[in-house]
Amino acid sequence: EKITVSVIKADVGGLCGHTLAPEDLLEACEGVLEEAVDEIIIDYYVTRCGDDIDLIMTHKLGCDNEKVHGLAWKAFEEATKVAKELKLYGAGQDLLADSFSGNVRGLGPGCAEMEFVERKSEPIVVFCCDKTDPTAFNLPLFKMFADPFNTAGLVFDPSMISGFRFEVHDVIGHKKVYLDTPEEMYMLLALIGDYERYAIKRVYRRKDNEIAAVVSTEKINYIAGEYVGKDDPVAIVRAQSGFPAVGEVLEPFANPHFVPGWMRGSHWGPLMPVSEEDAKPTRFDGPPRIMALGFQLCDGMLVGPNDLFEDKGFDRAREKALEMADIIRRMGPFQPHRLPATMMEYTTVPKVLKALEDRFIPLEGLELVEEGGVKRKDRGDVE
Ligand code: 13P
Ligand code: 13P
Ligand code: MG
Ligand code: MG
Ligand code: MG
Ligand code: MG
Repeated sequence: EKITVSVIKADVGGLCGHTLAPEDLLEACEGVLEEAVDEIIIDYYVTRCGDDIDLIMTHKLGCDNEKVHGLAWKAFEEATKVAKELKLYGAGQDLLADSFSGNVRGLGPGCAEMEFVERKSEPIVVFCCDKTDPTAFNLPLFKMFADPFNTAGLVFDPSMISGFRFEVHDVIGHKKVYLDTPEEMYMLLALIGDYERYAIKRVYRRKDNEIAAVVSTEKINYIAGEYVGKDDPVAIVRAQSGFPAVGEVLEPFANPHFVPGWMRGSHWGPLMPVSEEDAKPTRFDGPPRIMALGFQLCDGMLVGPNDLFEDKGFDRAREKALEMADIIRRMGPFQPHRLPATMMEYTTVPKVLKALEDRFIPLEGLELVEEGGVKRKDRGDVE
């Protein structure tokens, strides 16, 4: 019999500004989920990373289930009521639709779900982030499932030696492609190194097509060419016996990487691994943060969590992240601290351009190049 793990998240208000979803909001969510135990869900755990509330739920209803998504929506609605009563900042921020219909995809909340037959022992890691975007997982998922210098199991565990399959979404073209590692590793990297366009959505074990990892990528999509906002993401990863060991799942975060989504969703910053207690970003609204909660499933019950980044072994990663933060902060509104225009959550640059419209003067002696008409060599051109 299959169990589904659903992690559905939303930012419905911060205390103060975009810093923290307070206890009152978590309690409102818990009240709703508690009522649904045995009716819809088997078990749940409610937490928050910064101003984002994460509902971790188990059930037998499969992915994209209307009842489960409706339950999450109701929990966020109740939390929004509290947020509005307290006049919290951005109350109801991620509930973009007026009412629920079908599932939460496209309505504002983010969602990572996987359905599988629970193994004899089923360790899972739930990652929750704030002040970053779903593409924050591109690099660490690559390391977990395709880099033998990170994951020894790729070399030593016979179930992993045939590699993993990555489902990559082209968020501008609204397409997806499956790439198999190790053979197609370089093609995979050619895509997922580009945060403007490609995000890893799922990873499967090639031996038997078992689901290994899933990321919430809902709001990253452009709808009809219009930017609808990125989202502070969540991810679920299965560990041990045929999957990376828990320590291999966590190891990519020991060396922090730069991710998009800091201050105003418009800056690069280092992704700092933190405990649940320390998932309260405030410096320049950050730096971007990730927490990792380890659970053992027991007939669908969530045993845990073990707060995995609490480990002193990640202290140096935190120090490194803070050094990286100091360095990139020096750039202020200049790239590469500022994101490229295509990735900024909001900007006044179009207004500045409008105001300066009449003041731009053509450069003499230089031909106008059509916008987007810049030619670049591709590898095939290089002799
Ligand atoms: P134990 O010997 O503690 O079970 O660990 C095995 C393992 O896979 C650790 O990465
Ligand atoms: P959130 O995405 O966490 O709501 O933060 C938005 C922001 O602008 C922070 O500076
Ligand atoms: Mg917010
Ligand atoms: Mg419980
Ligand atoms: Mg947030
Ligand atoms: Mg954000």
